[in-house]
Amino acid sequence: MTEIERAVEVLRAGGLVAFPTETVYGLGADASNEAALHRLYAVKGRPSDHPVIVHLGSAEMLDDWAVDVPDFARALAGDLWPGPLTLVLRRADHVPDAATGGLDTVGLRVPGHPLALELLHAFVGGIAAPSANRFGRVSPTTADAVRSDLGDDVELVLDGGPCTVGVESTIVDCTGEEVRILRQGGVTTAVVARITGMQTVIGGSTPAPGTLDAHYAPDATVRTIATGELDALAADTPRAGLLGLVGDVHDVPAGWVTLATPADSEDYARVLYAALRQADAMGLPVVVAVLPPDEGIGVAVRDRLRRAAASR
Ligand code: TXA
Ligand code: MG
Repeated sequence: MTEIERAVEVLRAGGLVAFPTETVYGLGADASNEAALHRLYAVKGRPSDHPVIVHLGSAEMLDDWAVDVPDFARALAGDLWPGPLTLVLRRADHVPDAATGGLDTVGLRVPGHPLALELLHAFVGGIAAPSANRFGRVSPTTADAVRSDLGDDVELVLDGGPCTVGVESTIVDCTGEEVRILRQGGVTTAVVARITGMQTVIGGSTPAPGTLDAHYAPDATVRTIATGELDALAADTPRAGLLGLVGDVHDVPAGWVTLATPADSEDYARVLYAALRQADAMGLPVVVAVLPPDEGIGVAVRDRLRRAAASR
């Protein structure tokens, strides 16, 4: 039996399979199986009113899970799936409450990772998958990170290597008059605006459950700074892990550890969560992150760092 066949068997039996996506690792359960979804929430330690994203094998499955799909949502799916984009749409009747947190909408995404797609094609149905971390912890971007967080609570972890995007998908609410970006991620707002040709609004009209600041926080206190603010901080911070674009990190203060010096914002997104985990593994009290420019995927990196910093 191949590993994918085993994974399908586990899912069909109501079990949990962690799998790689291009953004972060997901903790998967059969999205049509209420009992499996309850197990998923229990293992994650997640409140049951938080909706999960249902992962699909192709954009053709959109109408199996959603109704009243507007043209601009189809345009986004057509151009960006498979990819780091989640569409919030009116749910079809059969979608279990446990997948939507009782909302009348459902989050759908076709992930852009070969192993995820292989699993989804073999399973055929939808796979509900939040990030494969315990509630409130940093999202995992490697199979090892999943194993160290979830241990024996997950039946199977598919290892697809490190995630290539590194921050979660962009979530677009397609149920209103305008295009609402509920979470910034792997797809930029500019790209969403160009494809839809519509007004885009940042943030929900009501806060989406699961967009809590504590979601992205390590144990270490995170402090975000702009380029050039390093010296001032060094004076009263004896020990810290430092993270920042290679051009922004020089003269590392004595007693500090360099966690990562990504070459550009894409690279920053890829190493971000591993660096935060590493800081905790090293017992560092503080992580100092020099923010990347506020453009492209740097917007999502800044968003996650700001939330991590605000949560203490
Ligand atoms: O990149 C990703 O999106 C990863 C990978 C595994 O696909 N998944 C992920 O899932 O980040 P999770 O559960 O950690 O975050 C899902 C987010 C939550 O903030 C949740 O509130 C939002 O999606 N969401 C899901 N369905 C929604 C809905 N119907 N309405 C509003 N927000 C929704
Ligand atoms: Mg998450």
